[in-house]
Amino acid sequence: MSQEKRRILTGITTSGTPHLGNYVGAIRPAIAASRRAEAESFYFLADYHALIKCGDPQRVQQSTLEIAATWLACGLDPEQVFFYRQSDITEIPELTWLLTCVTGKGLLNRAHAYKAAVDQNLAANEDPDAGVTAGLYMYPVLMAADILVFNAHEVPVGRDQIQHIEMARDIGQRFNHLYAAELARKGVSFTLPEVRIEENVATLPGLDGRKMSKSYNNTIPLWLRPKELEKSILGIVTDSRAPGEPKDPEGSNIFALYQAFANAEETAAMRQAYADGIAWGDAKRKLFERIDAELAPLRERYDVLIAKPERIEELLLAGADKARARTRPFVEILRWAAGIRRLTDRPATAAAATPAGATALPQIKSYRESDGKFYFKLATADGAVLLQSRAFDSPKDAGRLAAALVDAGDDRSVVAGLLLDAAPAAEIALPADAIAAALAALKADKLAKA
Ligand code: TRP
Repeated sequence: MSQEKRRILTGITTSGTPHLGNYVGAIRPAIAASRRAEAESFYFLADYHALIKCGDPQRVQQSTLEIAATWLACGLDPEQVFFYRQSDITEIPELTWLLTCVTGKGLLNRAHAYKAAVDQNLAANEDPDAGVTAGLYMYPVLMAADILVFNAHEVPVGRDQIQHIEMARDIGQRFNHLYAAELARKGVSFTLPEVRIEENVATLPGLDGRKMSKSYNNTIPLWLRPKELEKSILGIVTDSRAPGEPKDPEGSNIFALYQAFANAEETAAMRQAYADGIAWGDAKRKLFERIDAELAPLRERYDVLIAKPERIEELLLAGADKARARTRPFVEILRWAAGIRRLTDRPATAAAATPAGATALPQIKSYRESDGKFYFKLATADGAVLLQSRAFDSPKDAGRLAAALVDAGDDRSVVAGLLLDAAPAAEIALPADAIAAALAALKADKLAKA
């Protein structure tokens, strides 16, 4: 059997201009990871997410172009990975709605970004939801759709996104449970994604020494011309130590930036220069030279790419085609599972296909395992397992409980009590509707035969 490749997926919101922090913290490590052949990588431009923070259409478009050109210039190979624009995958907003309908409002109430907005409003004596769009509120559901639609295994993100991945798991799990019988019939379910935090990727300090971030307005844009880049670097804050005074590399912004670009040898030399009292101006110039040495060849490619938006557009559309070969059939099944179906696609059609006179019934079966214990299993007519019992020492105990379940039929409270005894905790979370329906059918059959 061929082993399924691990799917690694991440999105980039297209609301800004790429800066050095994005490059070191996300772009560079992601492109390095995409070259490992054992994984399938998915990188996409999250332009629908951009609308949540940015109401400037011109800026959303320009940012999408710049970010696409940046990833390509930095070496992303669209032949090797899935590289696409979120809004081209129309299955993403479709799935967003399917997921919205299984997502607890309370779950979204707990999202950090939403709570922060509410707290700010409360502190300012405003209405708690003042200025909060439903888009901001729904952000985690759209993100869950991004991830679940490709059944991604891993999502490399910054720490601020951990909660979003956890919510994607919750939402995916809820859908899996609610439509378990339908999904089993089609042999699919959502893969529950895991967050991956890159521990040894540097977080760059910005111009003011705080983390480089658009929200602090302290960034150094990635594609500054060399002169502007040098000027920007000369503006980084330092302490007031004079030339000749030894300087401490730990806690120095200049040193942290230098280290993010330099190899071990260069870093050691800079450490020595600090001990020898290098002047801040000289340290900054060395920093500029080191950064520019890495960026210059990429900048050349970037300039060529950004001048040809039509070429990038073509690449993105091709990427969308490749991605939709996955999402189209998958979302079709998910819609079906939720009941968005052709009117001609009815259970009656399936029953007609069974041999004349036989009605397809759920099954409740007792059996003995190689561990010598006794079990029973409840399955749909299609063979989807609804309930797997715990182990019983005697076949009588297993049989008695199975019979009691059938006698309970769709009396939910009796069934719930029996389930506590019948199944391990993890198995009770199965869709109650499906279990009740199966038991009711078995009870009706039993009464008819009695
Ligand atoms: N919310 C992410 C951020 O701001 C961007 C994003 C959107 C994303 N969809 C995603 C990241 C899916 C990972 C997976 O950084």
